Amino acid sequence: MQKIALLLLSITLVLASCQSEKKEKEEIVIGKKKVKETPFNIGKNIFNGKGKCYTCHKIDKKSIGPGVIEIMKVYSEQKGDIIAFLKQEAKPIVDPETYTVMKTNFAIIKTFSEDELEALSVYMYGISNGKTE
Ligand code: HEC
Repeated sequence: MQKIALLLLSITLVLASCQSEKKEKEEIVIGKKKVKETPFNIGKNIFNGKGKCYTCHKIDKKSIGPGVIEIMKVYSEQKGDIIAFLKQEAKPIVDPETYTVMKTNFAIIKTFSEDELEALSVYMYGISNGKTE
């Protein structure tokens, strides 16, 4: 009788620990989605990370390339398509004279998926409108 009670107790303990493990994992996934996986944040990570955009593009001032606010101003005024530009399907409309400099980065941009290009565009539109997340 004692043995059975012990067995039941250990089964209960195992089940309880499994359950709490599961709960923990779910929370982590939910947390990740909230903090990281919005298009804005994906775009931001690419812009500042593997895309190397930030080396030439600051947000509110010109550096090697025009600032993001300036780029997005021209794109809204002229109804430009930033994704088409990044796919090299549309000509430069902001500063065609220095396009050769921008061109050096297309080797990297070519490796991006459709979703990543979309995220870059969401980020650039957002940040130039004062969004921070
Ligand atoms: C080596 C420097 C450099 C890097 C790195 C760079 N750019 Fe540029 N970019 C430029 C220069 C210079 C211009 C201005 C010439 C032009 O308008 O094409 C420009 C222009 C642009 C334009 C405006 C294009 C137009 O219509 O005239 C966009 C959009 C753009 N860059 C996006 C990006 C993104 C997104 C990244 C990162 C994936 C990036 N750039 C990385 C230098 C760079």
